[in-house]
Amino acid sequence: MTGVTIIGTGSYAPGRPVTNHDLARVMDTSDEWIRPRTGIHQRHYAGEGETASDLGFRAAERAIEAAGIDRGEIDAILCSSMTSDYKFPGSGGLIGAKLGIQGVPAFDLQQQCASMPFSMQVANGLISTGAAKTILMVGADAHAGFMPWKDWDVLYGERDAEVSPEARAQATKHRGLAVIFGDGAGAMVLRKSEVEGHGFLGAQLHTDGDYAEDIALLGGGFRSRPFLTKEMIDEELYVPRMAGRSLFKHAVKKLPKVVRELCARHECTTEDVDWVIAHQANDRINFAVRDALKLPPEKVPSNIARYGNTSSATIAILLDELIRGGKIERGQLLCLLGLGAGLHWGAALMRY
Ligand code: ACO
Repeated sequence: MTGVTIIGTGSYAPGRPVTNHDLARVMDTSDEWIRPRTGIHQRHYAGEGETASDLGFRAAERAIEAAGIDRGEIDAILCSSMTSDYKFPGSGGLIGAKLGIQGVPAFDLQQQCASMPFSMQVANGLISTGAAKTILMVGADAHAGFMPWKDWDVLYGERDAEVSPEARAQATKHRGLAVIFGDGAGAMVLRKSEVEGHGFLGAQLHTDGDYAEDIALLGGGFRSRPFLTKEMIDEELYVPRMAGRSLFKHAVKKLPKVVRELCARHECTTEDVDWVIAHQANDRINFAVRDALKLPPEKVPSNIARYGNTSSATIAILLDELIRGGKIERGQLLCLLGLGAGLHWGAALMRY
């Protein structure tokens, strides 16, 4: 038996990094608050007009180059984004068009921070049924559009001015959410492994819609007629609602459990796992997962310090860094792990 495996990875982060000190120019926050609570030192933001498909396209180009294939060999695209270019359609087709492979079917998945384990399950299904041979899988998010400030030039230090007290108060109201997200994209090219016992082994996936509003974008939804109103803008519902503490508790409970369940189904122990490539929402969440699973720190790597939470992209960006850096080796057992808006959570096992 062989499953789908990764033959090339790529990632992309836009613009120059924005530090925690930079954020303090537009809201009441500080490096002293953000760093110890989250592990985040800086993040990147998409520029004006730069979209999830632009970021995804850049990461995809790098993944295709690393895979050493011609882009014409891609016969399916799997795209995950919670900040797609349009409310609809999704960004997958736009990435295909930017790559010049129009006509290739694109699937848009919406599992947010849990997207990679879910997408891996779908990719394996497409390949094992013969529906596809070479899949481009992309996670891309451009959250800049929901950031609660307008004075980008002050944020970047391009204009030496104080923001108005009203603007500062507005940004500060949403600071718990705003400081953790950053923009970026990660991509992988997937094919069936040629080595017996290698590739995707299985996934353990869960969804519980009862907690949909633990993190959700309440503005611009079809619960309302029309689906977008001036009142939604006035009430700042273009900034997602996030129940940070509740999500934190879900994550530290559900993530270790799902890894144990998955390992038990595949007759391995958590000790057999070489790398837990976990979603990067908060270092403290991953420290708790690591402790619960009794894993050494080096098996649960982190890059949140440099990117913040890039939602659908975190796992693919981290994988790209570890594979390009020569850290992950063929034959090692990887566990991709994430929890995000939905609530969706899950883990996927792959012998790389
Ligand atoms: N700067 C300074 N002070 C702040 C900030 C900030 N950025 N944010 C909040 N505070 C203040 C609050 O106002 C509050 O002050 P008070 O006690 O005087 O009222 C205090 O700090 C504590 O605020 P909490 O919101 O309770 O902070 P918490 O300790 O929960 O940390 C955090 C917030 C970091 C967001 C944490 O809850 C977390 O990481 N949760 C998980 C979030 C997550 O995983 N989200 C992604 C889900 S994935 C997806 O799919 C997109």
